Amino acid sequence: MMNEPAVVMKDVMKSFDGGKDYVLKGINMEIPRGSLTAIIGFSGTGKSVMLKHLLGLYKPTSGSVRVLGTDLSKLSPDQLTKFRCRFGVLFQSAALFDDNTVLENVCFPLYEHRRDLKEAQVVRIAEQKLEEVGLDPKHFGKLPSQISGGMQKRTGLARALALDPEILIYDEPTTGLDPILTEMVDNLILSTHKSRPGTTSIMVSHDLSAAFRIADHIVMLDSGKVLLFGTPEDFFKTDIELVKKFVNKGMKHQ
Ligand SMILES: Nc1ncnc2c1ncn2[C@@H]1O[C@H](COP(=O)(O)OP(=O)(O)O)[C@@H](O)[C@H]1O
Ligand SMILES: [Mg+2]
Repeated sequence: MMNEPAVVMKDVMKSFDGGKDYVLKGINMEIPRGSLTAIIGFSGTGKSVMLKHLLGLYKPTSGSVRVLGTDLSKLSPDQLTKFRCRFGVLFQSAALFDDNTVLENVCFPLYEHRRDLKEAQVVRIAEQKLEEVGLDPKHFGKLPSQISGGMQKRTGLARALALDPEILIYDEPTTGLDPILTEMVDNLILSTHKSRPGTTSIMVSHDLSAAFRIADHIVMLDSGKVLLFGTPEDFFKTDIELVKKFVNKGMKHQ
């Protein structure tokens, strides 16, 4: 169904030890298409494990995960690999290939998944993506170690955008960055989202003020369950004590 939400999780449970302990304890969630959704919650509460279910890297012990209208459990490993081209992913570390130039890093997914393109076309697309995220062409031939942390993030984002993904996933993209770089990356996430209408952006963030500033939907996980899903406004007027506590504490520490 084309109008289905970008992500639909139903009763998703995940155990890594054969059912003694559950990391995800029945996640029910719908992430609307075209939204910028932030996932928040205490550390160790299942946010990254949940993201890995969206990407099909983990299979739920029970329950179902539908992404862009497709039930991931119905895909063969090959189909799943192909399906993952519809995602762009940026983790905390940009995870660039150290021995490859900035440009080569962005070309990589295109060489891998767009065998139909000629080399010159691949390079042109990669250059466009790098320009889109605000990287000056004079850096394209440098190695990751020769550019700043901010430029490494931009390169990682350009690589995530290379295949024009329908869903962009960020897992703690600003953890460990200084405040100026954090704001730059948050603004980059927002401008990337806005310049690509229809793209669904999902960001796990420990940075509550950023989540409230840029996201249109917020999910709070706690102990493997969804505590609250709503707009930033819903979060400010909630009566759920744990959410209030988390929000007040998080906003104070910024
Ligand atoms: N592959 C794994 N095997 C066993 N336990 C895991 C695995 N991945 C994550 N966990 C556990 O699941 C819990 C949630 O982890 P995670 O989703 O990474 O938390 P966070 O909300 O900080 O992203 C943690 O207790 C973690 O130790
Ligand atoms: Mg995590």
